[in-house]
Amino acid sequence: MDPASTPTRSCDLASVLEQGLRSAIASACGIDEARADPQVKSSATPKFGDFQANFAMALAKALGKPPRDVAQAVIAAATAPLASLCEKMEIAGPGFVNITLRASAIANALDAMDCPTLGVPTVAGTKTVAVDLCGVNVAKQMHVGHLRATIIGDTIARMHERLGWRVYRQNHLGDWGLPIAMTLASLKRHGIDLGKVTLDDLNSAYRGAQAEGETDPTALADAHDTLRKLQAGDEPTVADWQRLIAVTMAEVFATAAILGVDLSERHSRGESFFRERLGPTVAAFVDAGIAERDAGALIVRFPDRERPLLIQKSDGTSLYSTTDLAAVRYRVQELGADLVVYCVDARQRDHFKDVFDAVVRIGWTHRPGRPDARLVHVPFGAVLGEDKKPLKTRSGENVTLVSLLEEATARGRREVHARAADPEAHTATHTREELDAIGQAVGIAAIKYADLSGDVGRDYVFDLDRMVSFEGDTGPYLQYAHARIAGILAKAGTIDLHAPLTIATSEERALALHLLRYGPALEAAAASLAPNRLAAYIYELANTFNAFYQACPVLKGDDAAVRASRLRLVSLTRCVLSDALGIMGITAPMRM
Ligand code: ARG
Repeated sequence: MDPASTPTRSCDLASVLEQGLRSAIASACGIDEARADPQVKSSATPKFGDFQANFAMALAKALGKPPRDVAQAVIAAATAPLASLCEKMEIAGPGFVNITLRASAIANALDAMDCPTLGVPTVAGTKTVAVDLCGVNVAKQMHVGHLRATIIGDTIARMHERLGWRVYRQNHLGDWGLPIAMTLASLKRHGIDLGKVTLDDLNSAYRGAQAEGETDPTALADAHDTLRKLQAGDEPTVADWQRLIAVTMAEVFATAAILGVDLSERHSRGESFFRERLGPTVAAFVDAGIAERDAGALIVRFPDRERPLLIQKSDGTSLYSTTDLAAVRYRVQELGADLVVYCVDARQRDHFKDVFDAVVRIGWTHRPGRPDARLVHVPFGAVLGEDKKPLKTRSGENVTLVSLLEEATARGRREVHARAADPEAHTATHTREELDAIGQAVGIAAIKYADLSGDVGRDYVFDLDRMVSFEGDTGPYLQYAHARIAGILAKAGTIDLHAPLTIATSEERALALHLLRYGPALEAAAASLAPNRLAAYIYELANTFNAFYQACPVLKGDDAAVRASRLRLVSLTRCVLSDALGIMGITAPMRM
């Protein structure tokens, strides 16, 4: 059959191209396909075509031939098999190959993408990831660090869900051990009614208890007594402890809901969940000869560093690391995780390095007949104030997450109300409540996008003015781009979703090619656990769309076929924008 008549239905044109070139390199140069690297990338400017393949230079060296000759031979071998995809392949400079795709191939691929999956490939539940996120401590207010642990974790979870992974969100609450016993003991000592406490009360009790513990030996003895009762399952003590958890978690879940994060009771796997497993965990390390005694405590030593990992204190109690060791075993061996991702503050880098190394040593990441499970810490940086120091209130307190979200919501609302005051605005006829809801969505998007669009590991300055702006690389800008597109579609009325697509202008081509990159971009973002890569894709989509819309009349055009084709492009752009923002847990209102 004529290859030009068998158009590809795959949306991932870069991969199809790459595979075609790989085979061509193998046959033209007589090397193994697995070793052939076509080095395909998107062209930086349209004058070099849609893609560039830079294989010739390296290959020429290995073969001892001029690069242009190598390029020519590969093009000759690729021309027939890639005839339906490529319009031309030209050699430029020392041996670059510039590739221009057929408009029909782009249109076909877009057509294939225009379905509910939006061309995103799926692993259909064959892979499992456990995402350690949020990690709040009972009886303590959430602060900005928890914002990051929560939304980065949620986005990483959503990216994997979208790609068809089985996802377990694991909220590793700090809900066990001496600090909580201290707080509980102090509350009881001061006769505070646990039926009526708020999280603020618990938070001050927590701090008070820490102070008392340092100065007052009876308070400390009292705390130890409470801890013993808790560990022994003494019913009234356990009931009180559960009350502290309930008060804390009510606020955590309310905050998660405001943030648009999927987090609820069923994701709670706090330290206490592992309490029965701590003994066996320590015993396993002792039995395997990996843990050794050190002044009464149990430690794991590593060959490449001084710092050991403490897994049991000299008084026989377990600690934070013991829980994490038990948690890895649970996640890999019981939940079947192929990958465990820890969205935790960068300051815990050493802790996770030690825990991971210890776990690998004892073999808990090993699964017979399958590749070892991977454990990855995604260390995030700090949120800074304008003074470039960790964000604090004027009086030097940690900024609570609640107050931050309230401020952002107020700012978002102010912005949205101001815009609605313009009689021409799409929102001019909205009610106060409707505008408030949009304003809240804007404020939350502002904070989330600013956080997720940067390199996770870097510190960033919390600058609400910049975050809430409708211009630049911000959440509100992207929401607004989406609402504008929704407005165009609403104005157009009914859209023929089966109208033939034609890719004629360079702006249509640029938009189409960027839309087709959605699946690969999402896969790359998930594989590198980097929400900012998804953010960069979305921002570029909005910009590419704007360039298209400026150059290509959609509603005003008088050719019905062109209008119908362009409306499909507009509609697909809206779907991808809304889908991608959804993966970042950002809502995309239809009007703003
Ligand atoms: N509760 C801990 C903290 O506030 C964070 C928990 C992180 N997760 C973990 N598996 N250790 O520092």
